Amino acid sequence: MNILAVETSCDETAAAVVRDGYEASSDVIASSCEAFVKYGGVVPEIASRKHLEYLSDVCGKAVSDAGMTFGDIDAVAVTYGPGLIGALLVGVSGAKAIAYALKKPLIAVHHIKAHICANYIESPMLKPPFVGLVASGGHSHIIYARDYVDFEILAKTRDDAAGEAFDKVARVLSLGYPGGPLLEALAKNGNDEAYKFPRVKFPNYDFSFSGVKTAVINELHRAKQANADINKADVAASFQKAIVDVLVDNTVSLAIRKKTDKVVMAGGVACNKTLYEAFAKKTKQHGLELYCPKPRLCTDNAVMTGCCAYFMAQQEEFADMGLNAFATVPL
Ligand code: KG4
Ligand code: ZN
Repeated sequence: MNILAVETSCDETAAAVVRDGYEASSDVIASSCEAFVKYGGVVPEIASRKHLEYLSDVCGKAVSDAGMTFGDIDAVAVTYGPGLIGALLVGVSGAKAIAYALKKPLIAVHHIKAHICANYIESPMLKPPFVGLVASGGHSHIIYARDYVDFEILAKTRDDAAGEAFDKVARVLSLGYPGGPLLEALAKNGNDEAYKFPRVKFPNYDFSFSGVKTAVINELHRAKQANADINKADVAASFQKAIVDVLVDNTVSLAIRKKTDKVVMAGGVACNKTLYEAFAKKTKQHGLELYCPKPRLCTDNAVMTGCCAYFMAQQEEFADMGLNAFATVPL
């Protein structure tokens, strides 16, 4: 089964052909990220216009890179939410048009589910049940996978997402956009114990990252007012450690509580090496297996969307031409 998958939930216009769930026959991404450097974040209206500009070429390239024609496509999948509504609408409209023209089924994919599914591509032996962390620019969830695409949310952020906190702190440190990778690079030269930033914990393992972000901003203000030097690398390393500690502790605690022996990572923040190493150490201590996709599959892409769609197709979960996009969708 060849699924043409389309993903436009944020600032990446992505399309891929996924064969039988696990094989990426092609993987095309046109990012409009550079357009947002001067704003320090995604401007939704510009992102939508960029999707409109790129979508047709990206889909065509996904099919030709796979060595196929549109006639070889068996189903069309698309991210319908959660994400930026204008951006999603471009992908949903495009995918509906292609499915209608080809007379092939349409599959509506949940973006968070797709992020988790990136792990099946990377590790085809991975089987549910497992506990997973999805940490991206818009979401920070811990989920329990009852089945391949049947997930339950165990905990979530009560305010900022982990990636959002990385991006905001990178901005106050004047590092540029997107902040996560830049902050990680700076933190390599810093002392992660130089500052004691808060680690907020809740009995149900929810996250809250706005406090640590405010603590960093306050620290920088204090130094500025006192005309004191600040070591940005120390701030970055201490902030990163505060986020990593909570992400790892909560996820592993819930994995133990759910009596699962597997932990998976997903989402853009899963590219972070410090986070991976902390997970590797803690999962080893508890005898848990750790899974993490390669960086290209952690950040937004359409391969994960096609993989998720494959499992949905097995359960005959198809959409119709009335499909709409939604900024928020329950898991
Ligand atoms: O999954 P993703 O590409 O898009 C969303 O669905 O949001 O995640 C993007 C987020 C951004 O906030 C970015 O700063 C963060 O992932 N990110 C990182 C790293 N690479 C990307 N955060 C921390 N360390 C990284 N190396
Ligand atoms: Zn995403």
